[in-house]
Amino acid sequence: MANKNLIDLDAMSKKQLDMLIKKAKKIMENPADYRHACDGKILATLFYEPSTRTQMSFQTAMLKLGGRTIGFDNPLNSSVSKGESLKDTITIVGGYADIIAMRHPVEGSAMAASMYAGVPFINCGDGGHLHPTQTLADLLTISREKGHFDNLTVGFCGDLKFGRTVHSLIEALARYNNVRFVLISPEELKLPSYVKNDVIKAINLEYIQTTDLEKVMPELDVLYMTRVQKERFFNEEDYLRLKDSYILTLDKLENAKPDLSILHPLPRVNEISVAVDKDPRACYFKQVLNGKYMRMALILKLLEVEV
Ligand code: NCD
Repeated sequence: MANKNLIDLDAMSKKQLDMLIKKAKKIMENPADYRHACDGKILATLFYEPSTRTQMSFQTAMLKLGGRTIGFDNPLNSSVSKGESLKDTITIVGGYADIIAMRHPVEGSAMAASMYAGVPFINCGDGGHLHPTQTLADLLTISREKGHFDNLTVGFCGDLKFGRTVHSLIEALARYNNVRFVLISPEELKLPSYVKNDVIKAINLEYIQTTDLEKVMPELDVLYMTRVQKERFFNEEDYLRLKDSYILTLDKLENAKPDLSILHPLPRVNEISVAVDKDPRACYFKQVLNGKYMRMALILKLLEVEV
């Protein structure tokens, strides 16, 4: 069953990842070939936390493959509000759907829930831990913009502590050759040691930590901006003090490489000024569309549908 779930990209080999990226590109080129690939199949999206892109892109992906969707985006409208356990909800939905995509605020909940699903299960974000399908969108974007992953200097800026998309992307990029990480954050929002030690240091990858975005800007091939994760803070005061630590403006991009790729998982709050949207280096809206194709490729893989 393990290979039919996506909880953590760790479980996917580099070869499997590359194949998935290739598949997404193929779907993008010939979407009509996949229009009936999932006829009769049902995807359940269970979102215990707010979402725009992840939930809707999974739903769109399944509809584009000919399948249908069920689910909730507000657990208060489901029996969760009556006290139903995650185990019971997942067991029941596993009887209705052919594949489940879940987002939940508790770290580790995806792994636990997958054990009761009985059908392929996808982690759409478990608290501040991981968000592997956003990483699939990020990887396809980097692949399309840069043509490769090896030898890139990738800057991560903002909330590296709670930003689950950062943790998942670092884990995925660490398997390519000579990738260098530049970790830009306030002291309080530094990358957790379980990512720094277990992923980056464990295989001796080159990295630097800094609080100064402008100083490192000229070195970067990719800049991954992130939102300060308000919902994970214990007190409002800390959030208000840290929320605008980094705001990317056109001025700050003056010394950046001409072929820099700027990514952001979105939603953006204040981290990137709207003026940057017109800069050809801004890739975050393309990244959203890439996510849909990667999710189509993932659904096909997990349901073992060959087209
Ligand atoms: C991210 C998430 O939910 O972690 N959003 C997303 O899925 N694209 C990033 C965020 O909320 O800041």
